[in-house]
Amino acid sequence: MKSAVPTVQAAALVLLCLTACRRDVPEEPASGAHTTPFILDLPANFPVPIIPASNPLTEEGIALGRRLYYDTLLSRNGPFEGFACASCHHQATSFTTPTAGTNVLAHVNLAWGTNFLWNGKVCGTLEDVMRFEVEEFFQVDMAELNAHPDYPQLFQEAFGIDNITSDHVVKALAQWFRRMVSSNSRLDRHLRGELLLTPEEMNGAMIFLSEVGDCFHCHPLPLMTDNGFHNIGLASTFGGFDVGRFAITGAPMDMGAFKTPTLRNIALTAPYMHDGRFQTLEELVEFYNSGVQHSASLDPLMTKPGPSLTLGLTPQDKANLVSFLHTLTDEAFLTDPALGSPF
Ligand code: HEC
Ligand code: HEC
Repeated sequence: MKSAVPTVQAAALVLLCLTACRRDVPEEPASGAHTTPFILDLPANFPVPIIPASNPLTEEGIALGRRLYYDTLLSRNGPFEGFACASCHHQATSFTTPTAGTNVLAHVNLAWGTNFLWNGKVCGTLEDVMRFEVEEFFQVDMAELNAHPDYPQLFQEAFGIDNITSDHVVKALAQWFRRMVSSNSRLDRHLRGELLLTPEEMNGAMIFLSEVGDCFHCHPLPLMTDNGFHNIGLASTFGGFDVGRFAITGAPMDMGAFKTPTLRNIALTAPYMHDGRFQTLEELVEFYNSGVQHSASLDPLMTKPGPSLTLGLTPQDKANLVSFLHTLTDEAFLTDPALGSPF
């Protein structure tokens, strides 16, 4: 769970980032490609994103990553032949898609991510998880890319290289993921004083952000995730994929613990939880209200004072909490042509 390792890593990355993100001196790729630095447009209340010095954001790198993301060429000759990343990650639903089995995780604000995939199989930077996606998941065929009519030129422009390796595919995709920022939901605009939430939404916010609902400890503003792992009590015994982080660490306290997903655009990403067990936010809120199950590794935050695991929310509280979750929908993100397919 909240072991010291990811925290120390994150601190190191932030330090790295303080230098890497200095906006006036973008680092040129070694071979001297003439790239155009790209500056992320972020609201003041957002933390500094994690950008390694070895992979600064450039217009060329992001455009290339975007094209790769939408291109089925990436899966050619691999186990997912015929798919693009975007085949399972659709913009209109925050880059998810409803499927049976393991729930597709959204691609939103992962520039701040330190733990990836439901059980945290990959920890580190976006480059680390892209290496997994490129080399293990899609098993990208570099010969296909190198023989392509357009890609050698595009990689040359982005990285100043003549031979495309998986390193460059990883870097381009990581840059693209850092571009996928959602920061214009109604909640964001409320926090910036641009609009007022309704009284119902405000009541939902109070429940979410106070000990009443106690959601904010794991889903804090503004990213709506603590980047940690928790067993929230979906079950009392665990097997198969449901063992969660335990499969990676073998630590008893990680039994049934999963990555806290962001709640951004949550109204559009049904079904919910790692196994997609809840179809609606109403069902999900009822789980938090009255369905939490006890086990040795249950996160202490899920146990309430006294023997009870229930929150005791009224029907109105529950409805308002759902209304609040809807304020996290960011239409600008979901419809931004710059995030859509370049084809
Ligand atoms: C066949 C459907 C499918 C395709 C195609 C697909 N993904 Fe995913 N993606 C998923 C699923 C399902 C998960 C959650 C899996 C898990 O956590 O075990 C996921 C999770 C992720 C995550 C983790 C997000 C997080 O919050 O931790 C990243 C990053 C990701 N995908 C990137 C990609 C990239 C890059 C590609 C293309 C190279 C891609 N995906 C193609 C289904 C897909
Ligand atoms: C102890 C930490 C913790 C607390 C407290 C918590 N959550 Fe979560 N939340 C998680 C984790 C971890 C998951 C993923 C669990 C899984 O899939 O097994 C999750 C999943 C969710 C999801 C589904 C996300 C998705 O993409 O499927 C929603 C919605 C949600 N939480 C809302 C809330 C609300 C509302 C509250 C307060 C009533 C709350 N959470 C309290 C950790 C927490």
